[in-house]
Amino acid sequence: PIHEPQFSASTSFSVDTENLQLQIDELSRYSDTPAPSVTRILYSEKDVLARRFIKNIMASSGLSVREDAVGNIFGRWDGREPELTAVATGSHIDAIPYSGKYDGVVGVLGAIEAINVLRRSDFKPKRALEVIMFTSEEPTRFGISCLGSRLLAGNDALANALKGTVDGQSISFFDAARSAGYATDQDDLSSVFLKKGSYSAFIELHIEQGPLLEDEGIPIGVITAIAAPASIKVDFEGNGGHAGAVLMPYRNDAGLAAAELALAVEKHVLESGSIDTVGTIGILELHPGAINSIPSKSHLEIDTRDIDEKRRNSVIEKIHQSAITIAKNRNVTLSEFKIVNQDPPALSDASIVKAMEAASKELNLNHKLMISRAYHDSLFMARVSPMGMIFIPCYKGYSHKPEEFSTTGDIANGVKVLALTLAKLSLA
Ligand code: GLV
Ligand code: MN
Ligand code: MN
Ligand code: MN
Repeated sequence: PIHEPQFSASTSFSVDTENLQLQIDELSRYSDTPAPSVTRILYSEKDVLARRFIKNIMASSGLSVREDAVGNIFGRWDGREPELTAVATGSHIDAIPYSGKYDGVVGVLGAIEAINVLRRSDFKPKRALEVIMFTSEEPTRFGISCLGSRLLAGNDALANALKGTVDGQSISFFDAARSAGYATDQDDLSSVFLKKGSYSAFIELHIEQGPLLEDEGIPIGVITAIAAPASIKVDFEGNGGHAGAVLMPYRNDAGLAAAELALAVEKHVLESGSIDTVGTIGILELHPGAINSIPSKSHLEIDTRDIDEKRRNSVIEKIHQSAITIAKNRNVTLSEFKIVNQDPPALSDASIVKAMEAASKELNLNHKLMISRAYHDSLFMARVSPMGMIFIPCYKGYSHKPEEFSTTGDIANGVKVLALTLAKLSLA
């Protein structure tokens, strides 16, 4: 057998931190809300401009760029053995309303910089290396998280459901996609599905979005598992009426049903017996939304997660029972209780964990094994590829708000560990 040359990170393994920070700052300007906040919603004008920005940077790094029918973007560096499956890395650049500039972005711009680092150190990939920018990791516009990676993982149910999916302005998914230049010829999204075995490995670099690495002064988190997220949409309908004229015994207040359910969610989560169970009501809407009108309709969206799937599912069941009971007691209709997604957790691949740990050690960077409490495109890539994730510290663990921040030094460390891990897996 031919002996592969070992690649080791020489002392010249250098990240262009200044340029990377400039790119992060420039990308943050494609936003629908003022700095320091970032809002970048799927297929919006700013999203389309931001995509162009990413494709240009990919191309200037010598990657060949292609896009699929929903706008997942792939930048490829061919390997010397074209019959081998590629090693992929990537993340997302969409941003929820009033968030920050590092979530996802570090794993896209940082991945392209990891490619630059490897080129500068004269690395020659054996397996091709691909940088992926996933479409809509955030559920903001169509209520579906990790839309691009769910489809890449091959999801007929989702591909079909999208035919009837509209946003809050009743714009259909396909009209929105077409306005951004995607899904132009048909409503069939099966071309997006990856074949199992398309990639020999997938690695995502991301800010921690939690406080542990910063608190403990550890530069690198090596992720062993991603917690199991679920989201639920609930609608109550009552009679509404005049806020002065309808006396309290005669009301069927859909708003109070929502309020009661919100507190029930908190109660069930707290009673799970584990600190790892969380639940959030991030959306609560009342109709008609006037101070002098009893809410005739209410709408809640519930996000609940756990590292233990069974425990999370039992919380969902209790929330459902509460919704039924509350509706009955308040004489309102539970017109919808829809579990939008109920995803299982994902485990990192043992050999990728080993490669990430070895890369950290060779670079003299302390690391710790940890789980991801946020979800990521990696959760879905794990269905079609061995998966691993690298976390870097972020200021006070802040994320999904404008104060989100990581130092250039921490980002550079993450880029180096990613670059060396990609190199190792490319030669494997
Ligand atoms: C990702 O944005 C998440 O909500 O975990
Ligand atoms: Mn996010
Ligand atoms: Mn993210
Ligand atoms: Mn609804």
